[in-house]
Amino acid sequence: MSKTLLITGGAGFIGSHVARLFVTKYPDYKIVNLDALTYAGNLENLKDIEQLPNYTFVKADITDASAVTALFEQYRFDGVIHLAAESHVDRSITDPNAFLQTNIMGTANLLNAARSVWKDDIGGKRFYHVSTDEVYGSLGETGYFTEATPYDPQSPYSASKASSDHIVRAYGNTYKLPFVITNCSNNYGPNQFPEKLLPLFINNIRHHKPLPVYGDGKYTRDWLYVIDHARAIDIVYHEGKNAETYNIGGFNEWQNIALVKLLCHKMDEKLGREAGTSEQLITYVKDRPGHDKRYAIDANKIKNELGWSPSVTFEEGLGLTIDWYLANQEWLDHVTSGDYQKYYEQQYT
Ligand code: NAD
Ligand code: DAU
Repeated sequence: MSKTLLITGGAGFIGSHVARLFVTKYPDYKIVNLDALTYAGNLENLKDIEQLPNYTFVKADITDASAVTALFEQYRFDGVIHLAAESHVDRSITDPNAFLQTNIMGTANLLNAARSVWKDDIGGKRFYHVSTDEVYGSLGETGYFTEATPYDPQSPYSASKASSDHIVRAYGNTYKLPFVITNCSNNYGPNQFPEKLLPLFINNIRHHKPLPVYGDGKYTRDWLYVIDHARAIDIVYHEGKNAETYNIGGFNEWQNIALVKLLCHKMDEKLGREAGTSEQLITYVKDRPGHDKRYAIDANKIKNELGWSPSVTFEEGLGLTIDWYLANQEWLDHVTSGDYQKYYEQQYT
């Protein structure tokens, strides 16, 4: 094996796509996937790669410093791609502590272990921290987040991610730990847990359930197909400059209500329902506290310096996403059984 890489959070939505890309594209890399298998982690996401000889899964919690250190001592990783996190804004409003523990202390534990194992030889090593555009706060009607936009996180989730970004940079500055950070916009695609807007609404439309649009629905997000995020991570891991930040986005802004109407239209077509059927499910509900108005990424740095741009149009990506959820109803049924029902009632009733 030419390199041994640790991917954290590889059983989650984005992590599973990153793990698949690295395991299949780099058969000479040994990929170790560390994941605690929280409600958001699902080994079904990795069924097609779990038997490959260059892939290993380890169930562990990044908040457990001794487990993390032991893993680094066992494998002497050449690099880390860190995705493990609590990732849902609404849950961070209900229960911020889990976000502070995992996103801040968990990241610190990984950094401490990397620092300790790499101290004598940092040659070729890299700690890649996967972060979010939410660290920049909220935009007004105009403008974009660039890599120079000052941090202004507004939710416990984004504050915990901002904090972890700062800690990664501090270790780079103080201990010369080699690192790179990316801040990405909203991802969509297969295997996303149905607490996030698109999979939640696809599942609700399937069951003729109300579509809970927060506030007036005039909030804007910039959507990127998850496989294009995984491609960007591959490029940045291999070609990004040390200690740099790259923003990643879809050049694809949508107001929530316009996106939901488009989804309803496409779902009616795919399910053979009369046009307009799903739109009748739209229900305006109480707004998310502290709801960020608009996110929009200027992704020109990664485009111009590293040659990355989205490969899938939104039209294609949304079609592929709907088709995946309709073809994988068993996956949806598994992840929406048990605790999901409790979460749903607490959040939406
Ligand atoms: P996700 O919630 O789908 O997956 C998170 C994974 O981390 C799960 O497999 C979970 O089991 C694991 N995990 C959680 N706590 C853990 C712990 N203490 N120890 C070990 N594993 C733990 O999240 P996602 O949407 O795939 O996001 C992955 C990363 O990308 C996160 O860091 C998130 O902040 C970032 N990000 C997400 C988006 C997005 O739109 N989803 C956009 C930009 C950045
Ligand atoms: O921007 C990147 C971020 O995108 C990631 O860092 C987060 O991990 C990811 O969860 C996502 O955060 P958002 O809060 O933007 O995504 P979410 O899917 O929760 O919501 C998208 C928009 O839809 C947001 O304006 C809130 C709104 N919404 C969401 C839900 C779940 C609704 O109107 N109704 C809902 O039921």
